[in-house]
Amino acid sequence: MHFGCITLKAPRELNHIELWFIGLWFIEHEITERVEHVLSTARSVRKKLDFTRPVSREDLEACINVAVQAPTGLTGENWRFLVVTDPETKKQIAEIYCDVLVQIGETRGVTLKPTHNALMARLHEIPCMVFVFAIGEPTEDVSGQVGFFGSILPAAWSLMLAMRARGIGTTWTSLLTSRKDEIAKILNIPEGVTQTVMLPAAYTLGARLKPADRKPAEEVTFWNKWGES
Ligand SMILES: Cc1cc2nc3c(=O)[nH]c(=O)nc-3n(C[C@H](O)[C@H](O)[C@H](O)COP(=O)(O)O)c2cc1C
Repeated sequence: MHFGCITLKAPRELNHIELWFIGLWFIEHEITERVEHVLSTARSVRKKLDFTRPVSREDLEACINVAVQAPTGLTGENWRFLVVTDPETKKQIAEIYCDVLVQIGETRGVTLKPTHNALMARLHEIPCMVFVFAIGEPTEDVSGQVGFFGSILPAAWSLMLAMRARGIGTTWTSLLTSRKDEIAKILNIPEGVTQTVMLPAAYTLGARLKPADRKPAEEVTFWNKWGES
């Protein structure tokens, strides 16, 4: 019996139910591999982006429909997404973004990578900027903050993954929050709404995304007590 490149030598003919279970196992295995591939290769894409092709509303809404499946705390569905495609608005936001990034580079003595500069140079041309907002404001205490941001950032991350799966490249950016009042003015954001990340999004042009070089699980995982392996 042949399953792709695998040949099973069955001692006897398999019945329909057994075949059905084997088929299901292969499908599950395929899904696991694909999901893990997307999860491991959702890198920031700042280059090899198609600046000329608008990201379709259909794709964006499909991705947002995935995003809203993320966990949410007691506050419920407090997420709101704002997609900016208007050239003048993008220009204003890009100016603030560049200003902040250059300042970070100067004040922290960080040399910006070519990839950061590449996005900065063309951010105003990006087909769309997707902002993720949360209705409400975080409290001072850690517990409240974990609950508040824990109810919005998983949705933002799911959005980034869903876009990755559809060939839309994005970068997780949060530096605009340091100028949130100016952004709020530009985008008419009401009081009591918290700005989180902004994902600049464009279809990728053959960007080859691979897993990052990260420490393996055994180096970052304790068992039963802190420090124990
Ligand atoms: C909290 C947070 C904020 C970030 N803000 C920015 C940002 O404002 N601009 C940017 O270009 N990248 C930003 N990044 C993306 C990181 O720079 C990115 O993850 C890093 O370049 C590693 O690349 P990788 O995502 O491909 O592993 C941010 C990432 C995190 C987790």
